[in-house]
Parts: sequence; structure tokens; C-alpha cells
Amino acid sequence: MASVTDKGKEAPKRPAPLILWLATVAMLAACSNDDRAARRAAAGPSPDRAALLRVASVAAGERQFARCAACHAIRRDAPDRNGPTLFGVVGAPVAGVSPRFGYTAALQRVGGRWTPERLDAWLADPRAFAPGTSMGFPGLADPLDRADVIAYLQAQR
Ligand code: HEC
Repeated sequence: MASVTDKGKEAPKRPAPLILWLATVAMLAACSNDDRAARRAAAGPSPDRAALLRVASVAAGERQFARCAACHAIRRDAPDRNGPTLFGVVGAPVAGVSPRFGYTAALQRVGGRWTPERLDAWLADPRAFAPGTSMGFPGLADPLDRADVIAYLQAQR
């Protein structure tokens, strides 16, 4: 009979670990969304591009890349879609990351290579960066979104 009594005493303790676990899960979920605010704060007041790149998050950039994925694959050797496959684009020649892609003269005219700075300008406003480009994307208005995407692109090499 003693064992039955013991079990009876233990039962009320059970919910506590469950609540702790739920609280931890909720906290982690909140962190992954809210760490934007922390990252913005860490970049300082009116941060420049370099400061934003320092606090950029590859994971956040991967989520942002959902906006690019309709037209761009990113894995090595993946076929081009509406746009060229972007594996290894940071440091690649402009209009040259995918040699088999049919680029516009507008983008070919730009010349040089893709640096984080040039990608930032391109992703802010593709049509201003290369007037006549066929990249039908309005641009990412938020500089932190752009820094995150660039960090993600930089990690794919
Ligand atoms: C609606 C389709 C579409 C979307 C959405 C899109 N792109 Fe593009 N992208 C293109 C096309 C088409 C080109 C080729 C442009 C040209 O030749 O003028 C291109 C070119 C590029 C290039 C230049 C590649 C090179 O070899 O020089 C980069 C970098 C790029 N896109 C990044 C992105 C990123 C990052 C996003 C998301 C934030 C994005 N694009 C969203 C269609 C798209």
C-alpha cells in the first residue's frame, strides 16, 4: 500500500516540467523573431551598411530568400529558373554567376564583380542599379533584410 501512496504524492509534481518545457519553447520561438530588434540595437543608431552586415543573420536571410526562390535556386548545380542559380554569387562576375543564363545587356553592361556593397544597391532597387534589367523584383526596402539576404548568399559557396 505504501507504493500507492507514494505514487499519489508524486502525481502533482508532473505538470511543472511540462510548463517549464512549454515556457522554454515559447521563449525560443520569441527569440528567433524578436532577435531582429536586438540585432538592430546592436548595430547602433543609424547604422551604415558595414554595421548592418556585422549583425546580419544567415538564418534570417534564409527566411528572406523565400522571396527570391520563385525565380532563383541557390544550391550548387541546381538548374536556372526565371533567374540564374545564385550559388557562389558573392565575388562572382556581375551577369556571370551562372554561365549558361541569358542575361540582359543591361546587367552585362555593369561589369565587375558582386561585392556585398553592390548586392546591397542591387537588392534595394534592381531597376535603378541596372536600368532595363529583366529581374522583375521591386527590391527589399529594409536595409537589415538586405544585410540578412547578403549574409545568406555569402554562406552559399
Ligand atoms: C521575378 C523573378 C525574380 C525574383 C523574385 C528575384 N530575381 Fe534575382 N534575377 C532575376 C532575373 C530574371 C535575373 C537576371 C537579370 C538580368 O539579366 O537583367 C536576376 C538576377 C539576379 C542577380 C544577378 C546574378 C548575376 O549572375 O549577376 C542576383 C544577385 C539576384 N538576382 C538576386 C536576387 C535576390 C537575392 C532576390 C530576392 C531578394 C531576387 N534576386 C529576386 C529574377 C528574379
